[in-house]
Amino acid sequence: MLLRILLLASFAPSIAAWPWVAGVPGVDLSVIQAIPENLLKQARQMGPDPTCPFNPDHPGAAPFDVRYPYTGSIGGLPGTGVGGVEVPSPGDMAHQFTPPGPNDIRGPCPGMNTAANHNFLSRDGITNLAELVSAQQNLYNIAYDLAVFIAVRGIALDGDVVTTKLSIGCDATERTSVDPTGTLGHEPDLNAHNKFEGDSSLTRRDYFLNNGDAFTFQGDMFADMYRVANATSSELFDRDTISVYRSQRYNASLAENPNLYFGPKALLLYGAASFVYEAFLVLGPEGTLDISTISTFFGAVPNAAGSYDHIPERIPSGWRNRRVAYGILEVAEEIRYQYPAFPELFGGNVGAGNFLALNTTFGIIQNGTLPDEVTAKDIACLLYQLATNNVPGAIGNEAELPLDVLTWVLMQLNPIFANTGCPLRVT
Ligand code: HEM
Ligand SMILES: *[C@@H]1O[C@H](CO)[C@@H](O)[C@H](O)[C@H]1NC(C)=O
Ligand SMILES: *[C@@H]1O[C@H](CO)[C@@H](O)[C@H](O)[C@H]1NC(C)=O
Ligand SMILES: *[C@@H]1O[C@H](CO)[C@@H](O)[C@H](O)[C@H]1NC(C)=O
Ligand SMILES: *[C@@H]1O[C@H](CO)[C@@H](O)[C@H](O)[C@H]1NC(C)=O
Repeated sequence: MLLRILLLASFAPSIAAWPWVAGVPGVDLSVIQAIPENLLKQARQMGPDPTCPFNPDHPGAAPFDVRYPYTGSIGGLPGTGVGGVEVPSPGDMAHQFTPPGPNDIRGPCPGMNTAANHNFLSRDGITNLAELVSAQQNLYNIAYDLAVFIAVRGIALDGDVVTTKLSIGCDATERTSVDPTGTLGHEPDLNAHNKFEGDSSLTRRDYFLNNGDAFTFQGDMFADMYRVANATSSELFDRDTISVYRSQRYNASLAENPNLYFGPKALLLYGAASFVYEAFLVLGPEGTLDISTISTFFGAVPNAAGSYDHIPERIPSGWRNRRVAYGILEVAEEIRYQYPAFPELFGGNVGAGNFLALNTTFGIIQNGTLPDEVTAKDIACLLYQLATNNVPGAIGNEAELPLDVLTWVLMQLNPIFANTGCPLRVT
């Protein structure tokens, strides 16, 4: 821990933290500047994390077995997209639930934690592009295009584009990086703040409000999500109830988190939230609502205090994945639906109650908001732009997508977006 603090202290924060307000007359950044550790706490993880467990055993995901093909994705290639399949299939011992051991890494994503606990990803929590793309298709029937998109986002922001490896939780640079000694610098991981992980999550607290822990499941927040869902609709978990709860989470962060950052990348959080009702329910959107299904994926067990304790995430028994694959246009449609229900401004706090809206144009985002009339295709193109441009980030914005990373991202994503009609970047 000490080493980490020393490394953080040697990192000089820069005003580029707020690129759209840097040097703007009349904007008072003294609140942030007066407390330098506020900026440090927001910095991406800069040094080795001695608390991150080391597991010398890296088994890899369970290999493809023709007897249990699921949606048929092998080695990161496209599968059939035909779901409605029971997961794990009866008899498929390789994908039975096994709780993580003390040296296995888990993180902020219930979808990935569940996948690792069922060997769809390597159970030590160190995974790679091929595993991520196949796991999402075979387990959840996420369509190939969306599976590639999310995996590429994850690896570009939080992993290594040469090895394509990614830690689904804490910093494991020595196992993910092309440079295991870390002399090129430490690379992030899914826990890293303001990369993929962001403020106002469903069941994780904001980084700044929880001493840097934005990845641990919070039982009181899960209880809150359930309460809001129940009070909002008899459908319990659907796009309407999740929209309300997400807005409530944004409003709470806005009021409480002096370092709230909600940049254009936060659109991905709407997408992640849609997985609750599009991917976790039995048979996805066809499925009947059932709090126990959602609880099992989040690892939530009710306790006597009216809150929830956490146990390892798992697939509910007898569960079937959604019949029709969930692709980029589908997730874009859910974002398009959720955002205007409670149109929150993109931007960030510079001190409690001092919110600055993003006022530079990014794609179709103007004056910190999406236009009133927006189509799913517009959102899909915006997702592409987010993945292939440097967008305002709280810290280290300039280096977010170095050229080698951008080149790799374009190589992966351009084929996926080839038929969308979105303007594509060449370099
Ligand atoms: C390569 C694939 C994926 C990566 C790298 C990934 C990564 C992440 C990350 C970093 C977060 C935290 C975002 C935040 O700060 O709120 C997150 C949240 C979430 N993810 Fe994933 N994810 C992936 C795929 C999936 C899939 C396939 C599902 C479901 C089937 C899923 C379900 C969720 C849910 C429900 C949340 C919200 C959790 C919360 O806010 O409490 N993810 N994911
Ligand atoms: C909603 O809340 C009420 C009151 O607490 C409870 O009786 C009911 O079972 C809940 N409904 C669902 C579907 O969980
Ligand atoms: C969040 O705050 C905005 C602005 O005050 C308000 O319009 C919206 O209804 C709030 N969201 C919820 C879920 O109450
Ligand atoms: C952004 O807002 C600041 C402060 O209100 C203003 O001075 C600046 O000109 C704005 N920038 C743009 C590009 O509109
Ligand atoms: C953004 O704000 C500026 C200044 O208030 C205004 O002139 C412009 O029309 C706004 N753009 C949109 C798309 O609302």
